[in-house]
Amino acid sequence: TERTLSIIKPDATRRNLTGKINAKFEDAGLRIVAQKRIHLTKAQAGEFYKVHAERPFYQELVDFMASEPVVVQVLEGDNAIAKNREVMGATNPADAESGTIRAEFAESVGENSVHGSDAPETAKEEIAYFFSGLELVG
Ligand code: GTP
Ligand code: MG
Repeated sequence: TERTLSIIKPDATRRNLTGKINAKFEDAGLRIVAQKRIHLTKAQAGEFYKVHAERPFYQELVDFMASEPVVVQVLEGDNAIAKNREVMGATNPADAESGTIRAEFAESVGENSVHGSDAPETAKEEIAYFFSGLELVG
């Protein structure tokens, strides 16, 4: 079993889609083992997405992620990282397979409803960025 960090982004929390998105995770066999609603500062969003600091969309991404509350969560299951990315769909909703979260809910390549860790090392770092050991029950 494996854990991954998921974020329900501001475009989705604003449209009250948390439950519909969580149903997609649960239907795919992912278990939500930790979850909280937070409002990131620009500094926190910038730190989280620092790997993209040199990309032209970085400032737009940071401003968006700090614009309204998000729901950060830890998903657990067999191959959780890959499974979550499958359920999310492609970054650009125009390319996302039907039935995926981004195909159904995302508004644009920037405002694309969800984030998911992309590898075991980043999952570990991203979970530790948002959750303490006390918040993560076995
Ligand atoms: P995350 O799970 O959020 O990391 O998405 P991803 O892994 O599918 O995509 P990637 O890591 O390449 O990009 C991170 C995020 O930057 C995306 O989810 C988008 O929100 C945003 N992003 C990527 N490309 C663009 C772009 O061309 N324009 C804008 N405005 N945002 C972008
Ligand atoms: Mg990514």
